[in-house]
Amino acid sequence: MSTITTEQMRFWSPEVRELEPYVPGEQPKIQNLLKLNTNENPYPPSPKVVEAVQAVLANSADVLRLYPDPDASALKQAIAKQQHVDVSHVFVGNGSDEVLAHIFKAFFVQELPILYPDITYSFYPVYSQFFGVKTKVLPLNDDFEIVVDDYKQPNGGIIITNPNAPTSIALGLSAIEEVLQANPDSVVVIDEAYVDFGAESAVALVEKYDNLVVCQTTSKSRSLAGLRVGFAIAQPHLIAALEAVKNSFNSYPIDRFAIAAAVASFEDQEYFEAQNEKVIASREKLVAQLTELGFKVLPSSANFIFASLSSKDAAELAAELRERGIIVRYFNKPRINQFLRITIGTDEQNQRLVDTLKNDILA
Ligand SMILES: Cc1ncc(COP(=O)(O)O)c(C=O)c1O
Repeated sequence: MSTITTEQMRFWSPEVRELEPYVPGEQPKIQNLLKLNTNENPYPPSPKVVEAVQAVLANSADVLRLYPDPDASALKQAIAKQQHVDVSHVFVGNGSDEVLAHIFKAFFVQELPILYPDITYSFYPVYSQFFGVKTKVLPLNDDFEIVVDDYKQPNGGIIITNPNAPTSIALGLSAIEEVLQANPDSVVVIDEAYVDFGAESAVALVEKYDNLVVCQTTSKSRSLAGLRVGFAIAQPHLIAALEAVKNSFNSYPIDRFAIAAAVASFEDQEYFEAQNEKVIASREKLVAQLTELGFKVLPSSANFIFASLSSKDAAELAAELRERGIIVRYFNKPRINQFLRITIGTDEQNQRLVDTLKNDILA
């Protein structure tokens, strides 16, 4: 950005000149890197996913010249089956980031502001600016929990990440129901990017509430961040709005490889469950080890933890870990600038983190 001059910027739309884009976690090229900064899964996807991609590849001379199914029907069917909903309740997009973008456009451009917590997924303010959505930011309490009563005021929509990111703390379904019941005329979006690591999914409430949209991704619990497939579950009148936005933007967001691979993933429930259990077990072990080292770790229902150490500045700690090839996420933001967000790796990877802290940095 800094190399673009004001004179060159005269070609840009005025609105684009004002944008403050989302900054993704870095994907560095460092040898012997331990990458615990973007909440990717340390395990590979189901072997059936790899087979499905190879099958498309084997057929590529025939099929790649053709557009994929604009409706990604096979993928919607597979998601509907796995989530126990009717296929009319499913929307798919190029990563849940794209699904969220369509959600902001479809539901949140209103007279009243949307409500979301002060500490949450940092894409929400970006989309709000991008689509001209008004916002009212509500502080989490001192324990970094959502205060449900704050979400009982006039609004143009609500978005809650559950479990929240980067705090990792989950909200129970009864609290979510309270929010839904208090807001019958607003769309309530629950972003469940990390739900499979121990939180309760609000998909169970979709039949009951005509104002609920649940958004999920294959990037974390299905080890498919590189594939870019996300989805939303809601009643058909809300799905129709998302389809209208999608078909006004990009009719073919999911390519042939992504459709085949994601279908294979949703069909392999056994692998999915076993892998998530492994991540959860590694998380509990890591939390115990870090607590022993003096860290305060927030209660996590995600594939990452949010931890602070009173004896050492978090930015310095992140920098010292980085010098040793271990990358974690540090946010230089009010209230959370003494925390590190650490993605759960394999037991071996987590042990490297603990050993580096114990024997090297904190010794
Ligand atoms: C809370 C939350 N929602 C959505 C996403 C987007 O995931 P994706 O676009 O990979 O599906 C992320 C990614 O980190 C996230 O943390």
